[in-house]
Amino acid sequence: MSILRLEDLKQYSDTLRTRQGEPLNVRFVEPRDTEELQHYVRSLSTRSRYNRFFGAISELPKALLHDFTHVGEQERFTVIATKMVDGFETIVGEARYAFHADSSRVEFGMSVDDRWQGHGIGTALLKNMECRAAAFGAEHLFGDTLRSNETMIALARKSGFAFVNHPDDWRLVRFDKELNVAPKDIPCASWRLAALSRQAESPSASV
Ligand SMILES: CC(C)(COP(=O)(O)OP(=O)(O)OC[C@H]1O[C@@H](n2cnc3c(N)ncnc32)[C@H](O)[C@@H]1OP(=O)(O)O)[C@@H](O)C(=O)NCCC(=O)NCCS
Repeated sequence: MSILRLEDLKQYSDTLRTRQGEPLNVRFVEPRDTEELQHYVRSLSTRSRYNRFFGAISELPKALLHDFTHVGEQERFTVIATKMVDGFETIVGEARYAFHADSSRVEFGMSVDDRWQGHGIGTALLKNMECRAAAFGAEHLFGDTLRSNETMIALARKSGFAFVNHPDDWRLVRFDKELNVAPKDIPCASWRLAALSRQAESPSASV
């Protein structure tokens, strides 16, 4: 299976819509976003941060912040959903995903700014994750959430994920979706294009 290269991926950004139809830009985070990303994490509610990182942190520890903003290292990627507020590009959500080529799975976690929760951004980001995973040729997309996180569990259920116990943390439940999408059928234009161009470069690859 050929791997999508970051230099090729970087050209892709997506426009998502909130439930009210407002546009959001979803793009890879860049080192220039470091301060804004840390500000975003600090401004999440204590509960949202706990649900996202499974621990009581007030901000991203330095090493994690470095990892978050150095996209592509070890097949790990961070995207931010942004919106123009008073002329400034403002982060309203983020997602981080990792492609495990050996098992053909993509793992992800995500969050939405508390002020923007309930507007359909989580739903749209999750669909976008499915497209990104399918563009890698992944067969599964999965994530872990605290058992008490009813919102994430409801969102995953609504989006067709199945639930299994976490292999080694009883506090968590794993949600998993089998992806069975041919490149030409990927519903996000940018990721369909990425998958098709990869297929053209490497015709023997499944995507
Ligand atoms: C989980 C999270 C990403 C969802 O994002 P969101 O933008 O609020 O999600 P949406 O507006 O698309 O709502 C998705 C679904 O969640 C469910 N939901 C929303 N609010 C809920 C609540 N208070 N209680 C239970 N379910 C709820 C609903 O099923 C909703 O779908 P519907 O409105 O079509 O019925 C967001 O709440 C968040 O960032 N939480 C903190 C971090 C976190 O928990 N991350 C998950 C770990 S991977």
